[in-house]
Amino acid sequence: MNIVFAETVYKLSKCSFICIFKPMTETISQNTPIIYLAPLQGFTDHVYRKAYSEVFEKIDKWFIPYISVKNGSILKKYLKEIQVENNRQNNVVPQVLGKNPEEILILSKVLEDMGYMEINLNLGCPYPMVTNRGMGSGLLPYPEKIKIILDEFFSKSKLKLSIKMRAGFDSPQEIDKVIPVINQFPLTEVVLHPRIATQLYKGEVLDSAFIHAMQNLKHPLVYNGDIFSSEDFMKRQLKFPEINFWMLGRGILMNPFLPMEIKNIQISDQEKSQKLQDFHNRILELYSDKMDNEGNVLNKMKQFWIYFSYVFPNQKKNLKTVKKASSIKKYSEVVKKMFWEIA
Ligand SMILES: Cc1cc2nc3c(=O)[nH]c(=O)nc-3n(C[C@H](O)[C@H](O)[C@H](O)COP(=O)(O)O)c2cc1C
Repeated sequence: MNIVFAETVYKLSKCSFICIFKPMTETISQNTPIIYLAPLQGFTDHVYRKAYSEVFEKIDKWFIPYISVKNGSILKKYLKEIQVENNRQNNVVPQVLGKNPEEILILSKVLEDMGYMEINLNLGCPYPMVTNRGMGSGLLPYPEKIKIILDEFFSKSKLKLSIKMRAGFDSPQEIDKVIPVINQFPLTEVVLHPRIATQLYKGEVLDSAFIHAMQNLKHPLVYNGDIFSSEDFMKRQLKFPEINFWMLGRGILMNPFLPMEIKNIQISDQEKSQKLQDFHNRILELYSDKMDNEGNVLNKMKQFWIYFSYVFPNQKKNLKTVKKASSIKKYSEVVKKMFWEIA
């Protein structure tokens, strides 16, 4: 997880402050874009998704960050993430991560028994602790292994399946060999983050890889990557006018109004400020209800602020102040002041 945080902070240090208190711009599409919340392990957990759905609108599909297997059964720490009572939103899709058909089928069976209709296969995770074990984007150089997983899945599971993938592990040419394989199976859709794994979240997204997928993939295609503002969205929409499905991750964490802005839903600054407070307070309340240790709640809130701090003009200062809080009491005092400043 430390590597993930390091990457996150690196990426964020490259982003400028996203000012949420500005007039919303108009989108150019005649069709309302369909917006998915990306899975972000450690960030878009069930607490985040629940609080978000209570306060904001305009997410069309919610992805649960990946679950995986240990010693032949689902890792226990993931159970609360998939429990049906923690996922009352419309269109929730759990994601599975595994190295072979056996692991994927173990997870599929758990999810099918819980009543899920559709799951997503992770072929995108770029981190060595995952890829070295032949999972996530570690499968992309081996289309034959992907074929075996999909063959077994579709012969043994009743669930619908989509894929979330990168353009390759260490070459964007890998996607050329993966597409003919996944075209043979009845996937519901493919989400493409057009980077290769060795880029992690750095460097340019590879438009050419996305265009290649647009031209060759038989399945509905979803764009994912580096949409941090409605301007970013419009640029992507101009580049890929055929695409109407968009998955957003860090952009939503940094600006929870982004889906509304993209869909051109306007609300006043006062309402915005109130919604941000409601959202924050609900997250704090839910973590406090679920965890009996105050230190754990504080750690979760500090993690939430890695991205949430971007809604404030004093992003760096506020994040530093939150990180210094030594108790929930102190945390609540400093945060109250920050909200008061933007009210
Ligand atoms: C901290 C972190 C955790 C992530 N966890 C997952 C995950 O569980 N499953 C997955 O498919 N992608 C995961 N991703 C990738 C995101 O879903 C998404 O593809 C990526 O952030 C690019 O989209 P964005 O630019 O809109 O954030 C993660 C990314 C980050 C930064």
